[in-house]
Amino acid sequence: MRNLNIMVVFMVALFVLPLTAIAQNKYIGVKMCSMCHKTEKNGKQLDIWQKSKHAEAFKVLSSDKAKESAKAKGIENPAEAKECLECHTLGKTVDAKLVDKSFDMKDGVQCETCHGPGSTYKNLTIMKDKAKSVAAGMTEFKDEAAIEKFCKSCHNEKSPTYKSFDFKESWGKIKHPVPKAG
Ligand code: HEC
Ligand code: HEC
Ligand code: HEC
Ligand code: HEC
Repeated sequence: MRNLNIMVVFMVALFVLPLTAIAQNKYIGVKMCSMCHKTEKNGKQLDIWQKSKHAEAFKVLSSDKAKESAKAKGIENPAEAKECLECHTLGKTVDAKLVDKSFDMKDGVQCETCHGPGSTYKNLTIMKDKAKSVAAGMTEFKDEAAIEKFCKSCHNEKSPTYKSFDFKESWGKIKHPVPKAG
């Protein structure tokens, strides 16, 4: 009987552990992030992002210009082609299984494209503490050089419309710091 109990616990653990592991670390979408990141006091990250081209990055794939540059590569529909989506939504290394229902690809290059999947660090107690957030999966940028390198993972000559990328100027257009207290 005791052995049976242990067996049952073991079997349950076998099923539940992998499931919870998968349930964590998902992309939850800009709406979930922005409820805490939209006030003036906190730095209006939502507003700054909404006014940036990144918010349009998916929609732009339906433009005539997009269809034109896709055609040159033999791609019928850029809004469905991995070759375009990898830079126009989540980035290159993302597994579609990690995308939650609340996530909307139509929001283009969004918070979690750069900060990493947020389901595990979005809680206030974790968010308030940078070390905890990073431990829970938030991407850490060690310095400006690391930020520049990250930007250039998309802003490079593999982009069919690429001309040049001036990091300082571009970062100036989209940065969204939390105002310093006091
Ligand atoms: C429950 C509210 C809440 C939610 C939801 C939330 N955040 Fe935060 N976040 C905070 C607070 C509070 C801070 C600390 C701000 C400060 O430094 O004053 C913070 C800090 C951050 C930081 C800065 C970390 C650092 O110290 O360098 C980033 C980046 C961030 N959040 C991104 C996100 C992203 C992306 C999402 C969605 C996946 C998200 N947040 C969801 C409340 C939240
Ligand atoms: C996942 C890919 C990706 C990453 C990473 C990325 N971008 Fe972009 N960015 C894009 C796409 C796609 C567009 C074009 C969107 C459009 O035109 O609708 C764009 C457009 C822009 C624009 C507006 C166009 C322009 O040249 O004025 C700026 C500014 C910009 N990005 C800055 C940055 C900075 C700074 C970083 C790093 C912090 C960065 N981006 C990281 C994909 C990316
Ligand atoms: C390596 C990353 C990357 C890939 C792959 C990529 N793009 Fe982009 N795309 C960008 C970036 C970054 C920008 C903004 C700056 C620029 O034009 O390079 C952009 C901008 C655009 C624009 C707006 C240009 C403008 O002048 O308004 C269109 C349209 C576009 N891309 C279409 C596509 C199509 C179609 C594909 C697939 C065939 C594609 N992109 C693949 C990164 C990429
Ligand atoms: C194109 C990439 C990109 C996008 C999109 C983006 N961020 Fe950021 N964000 C960054 C980078 C890079 C930093 C600087 C990190 C650092 O200084 O450690 C940053 C910093 C922050 C900070 C901390 C600011 C501070 O002063 O400490 C917060 C909060 C934040 N982002 C929230 C968000 C939210 C919320 C969204 C979506 C509405 C978002 N970000 C979209 C790249 C991005």
